[in-house]
Amino acid sequence: VNGKVEIPVVVNVLYKTAAENISLAQIQSQIDVLNEDFNATNADFSSTPALFSGVAANVGITFVLQNVVRKSTKTISWSTNDAMKSGTKGIAPTTPTTVLNMWSCNMGGGILGYAQFPGGSSATDGVVIDNNAFGRTGTVSGVYNLGRTATHEVGHWMNLRHIWGDASCGSDMVSDTPTHDTANYGVPAYPHYSTCTGTPVEMTMNYMDYTDDRGMYMFSNGQKSRMDALFVTGGARSGFGI
Ligand code: ARG
Ligand code: ZN
Ligand code: CA
Repeated sequence: VNGKVEIPVVVNVLYKTAAENISLAQIQSQIDVLNEDFNATNADFSSTPALFSGVAANVGITFVLQNVVRKSTKTISWSTNDAMKSGTKGIAPTTPTTVLNMWSCNMGGGILGYAQFPGGSSATDGVVIDNNAFGRTGTVSGVYNLGRTATHEVGHWMNLRHIWGDASCGSDMVSDTPTHDTANYGVPAYPHYSTCTGTPVEMTMNYMDYTDDRGMYMFSNGQKSRMDALFVTGGARSGFGI
């Protein structure tokens, strides 16, 4: 589907403090990161180790900012219960079958973000990103400052599983990604060997691992196939169609 899927994005900003009312420049920086990461034009794509360069993907999906919706709130911090997506306390999504809705808000409990997989309720479809991990300028801070939280969450929104399959040596249902012991954090030294069957080198630089933003810079071709399948006729996100 390279070049044929263009995703309109509506960003819903919920703010209690002035800082949480993130700037348009910060919002646009997140759209830029998504376009780079999903088109293999990210500057660090070339850091992909030779072992994986044959499976490193140009997913070929573009993102276009369509609108920004802002709302002041009394809520100090949000959880993963979808309250930010309801019109009463939060902002209801804009036409979720044809628009990727993103919410920027202050997440509690150190949560960077979360996503809804394809096939769920329209009313809660989209991705949520903590305002301090949204984009790569403005209020971003720490090791999640390059906009990769959204790349990871949009990966989930496009049906990708965590690379370790959320289990010890679990499956992500993608054959060209190695089996990982568990989640990786920080920026692991290369090569990092798995103790799973075959002791493969782990693809710690994959967006669907849990490393710092600077440690993740590629999707695989198998992951691209799972994402592509959503957008064809009959696919779970065919509203964005080709
Ligand atoms: N913990 C979150 C999730 O499972 C996001 C992790 C994003 N990682 C990052 N380096 N930005 O969806
Ligand atoms: Zn995740
Ligand atoms: Ca795999």
